[in-house]
Amino acid sequence: MADQNTQIKSEAAKYTTEKVVYAKGLEGVILCDTQVSFVDGLAGKLYYRGIPIQQLAENSTYEETAYLLLFGKLPQRNELEDFKAQLKANRAVTPEILEIIQKFPKDTHPMEALRSIVSLLGMYDKVDSLNTPEANIKIAIKLMAQFPSAVAAFERFRQGKDYVAPEDNLDHSANFLHMFRGPIPSDLDAKAMDACLILHADHEMNVSTLSCRVVISSLSDMYSAVCAGVGSLKGPLHGGANEEVMKTLEEIGTLENTEKWVKDALAKHVRVPGFGHRVYKYYDPRAAILKNFSEKYAQIKKETYEKLQMAELIEKIMIETLGESKGIYPNVDLYSGLIYSTMDIPRDQFTPIFAIARVAGWCAQILEQLQDNRIYRPRCHYTGALDLPYIPIDKR
Ligand code: SDX
Repeated sequence: MADQNTQIKSEAAKYTTEKVVYAKGLEGVILCDTQVSFVDGLAGKLYYRGIPIQQLAENSTYEETAYLLLFGKLPQRNELEDFKAQLKANRAVTPEILEIIQKFPKDTHPMEALRSIVSLLGMYDKVDSLNTPEANIKIAIKLMAQFPSAVAAFERFRQGKDYVAPEDNLDHSANFLHMFRGPIPSDLDAKAMDACLILHADHEMNVSTLSCRVVISSLSDMYSAVCAGVGSLKGPLHGGANEEVMKTLEEIGTLENTEKWVKDALAKHVRVPGFGHRVYKYYDPRAAILKNFSEKYAQIKKETYEKLQMAELIEKIMIETLGESKGIYPNVDLYSGLIYSTMDIPRDQFTPIFAIARVAGWCAQILEQLQDNRIYRPRCHYTGALDLPYIPIDKR
C-alpha cells in the first residue's frame, strides 16, 4: 500500500507543483478576468464598474445601479426610463405561479420558497434557453423584476393575507415594500431599502456568484444558475449571516450581557456573525454606510436603539481583539438586519432581501462568464487507496 500512496502523492504533487495550487476554499485563486466589480480588501474599498460604492449609495438608485452592472455603463436618461419600464412590465407574478406559492407550506424558510420560485419562473418562461446575450438580458430583467414580487407574495400568503399587486407609480424598492407590507412606504424606508439593495447588488467572486458562474459554465440556463446562487446565499457563512446577527442579538438579550457573550464566543472560537471576510481585512465599506442608516432607525424605535448599542459594543470588542491580529472587522451583514427589523420585516426575510439585490450582480456576472466561457473543472488531491480488489458480498 505504501508504494501506491507514494504514487498518489507524486501524481498530486505533479499537479500542485507544475500547474495548479492547492487552495482550500479557493483562497487567493484568480478564476477569471472581470470588469463587473472590484473589492480592494486591504483598503476596504468596493467598486461597481469602477465607481466607488459610496458614490452609488449616495447618488444612484437600485434600477440605475442594476443597469450599470448589467450593461457596464451609467444609462442615459432615456435608457434608464426604458429599463425601468421593462422592470415594471415584468413585476406581476402570473396567476399560475401565485397559485403554486399559495400551496407552499407556511413554515417553509423564505429562501427555500425563493429557490423553488426561481425554478418555477424558469419552467413557465417559454423563451428558449438560447443563452444568447439578448435572450439572457430579457431573463435578467424578468428575474430582477420578479424577485421582489415573489418574496412579497410568499410573505403575504404565509401571513394568510392577499397578494398585493405591483404599483406602477412606485420605483423598485418602494414597490417591494408596498407589495411586502401593504401600505405605501415612507420616503425614509424607500430610500433606506434602495441604499441596502445598491450595497448588496454585487461583490466580485463571492460564493453565490461563483455558484452561478460554475453552473452557467456548462452552458446550462440562467434560471438554473440563479437557482444555485439562491441556494448558496442561504448559508449562514454567506447571505444567511444577516439573519444570524439578529438571532445573536436576541440571544444575548441586553447590553449588560454583551461583553461576556462575545468573550465566551471568542474563547470557544465561534465565528461571530457579521464579522470577518475572506477578502476584506479592514472595515467593509458597506457596513459603514449601513451603520449610518441603522443610527437613523435607532431614533425611530427603542428596540433598534438597544440592539444598535449591543452591535456597536460587539464591534468594539471584536476590533480590539481580532482587528489588527487577524483582520477581522464588521462585514455587510452586521447592521443590515437592524434596518430591516425597524421596517417590521421578519428576520427570516433578511436573506431574501439580500437575494433581491444580488440577482442583478449574479445576472451581470453570468453574462460576463458566457462572453469568455470555459467549463469549470478543478482537480482534487486524492488521498484514498488505489487498485483495491472487489470482494463478493458473501466474503466481506
Ligand atoms: C458575506 O465573499 C463575499 O464577498 C461575501 C459577501 C458578499 O457581499 O457576497 O461579502 C457577503 O457573505 C459576508 C460574510 C458573512 N458571514 C459571516 O458574517 C459569518 C461569520 N464570518 C466567518 O464565518 C468568516 O469570516 C467568513 C466565512 C466570512 C470568511 O471565512 P474564511 O475566510 O474562510 O476565514 P476562516 O473561517 O478560515 O477564519 C480565519 C481565522 C480563523 O482563526 P484561526 O482558526 O486561524 O485561529 O479568522 C477567524 C477564524 O477563527 N475568524 C473569526 C471570524 N471570522 C474568521 N473569528 C471570530 N469571528 C468571526 N466572524
